[in-house]
Amino acid sequence: MAYSDKVMDHYENPRNVGTLNQDSETVGTGIVGAPACGDVMRLQIEVNGEGVISDAKFKTYGCGSAIASSSLLTEWVKGKTIEEASTITNKSIADELGLPPVKIHCSVLAEDAIKAAIEDYQSKKN
Ligand code: FES
Ligand code: FES
Repeated sequence: MAYSDKVMDHYENPRNVGTLNQDSETVGTGIVGAPACGDVMRLQIEVNGEGVISDAKFKTYGCGSAIASSSLLTEWVKGKTIEEASTITNKSIADELGLPPVKIHCSVLAEDAIKAAIEDYQSKKN
């Protein structure tokens, strides 16, 4: 299947690949899997004292669309508050990347991952 130019761009030059210290109190980690295909995505955020996401990293073991979705997402969440980041939907990711219907679940993985990362961060704070 042909990937869109935006997917290819993120796939060939993924932004923010890497790892943050999972044990840090200021880091939230979300690890999610897609039952449909077995792909796994890890998304991490670093949150500063003002509740703003100062850094984001991902590692995705999956298809090009999943890699592009998580790469785009890390770009989007940087500089946002965790409240703003939690309102990002898989639809906005799929629309931006021009994902075809069979690849929608790849963007769902990204939405699930950011929600899980925020939850992890908040559970550490409380
Ligand atoms: Fe998961 Fe695309 S099916 S790699
Ligand atoms: Fe399964 Fe992309 S995450 S095909």
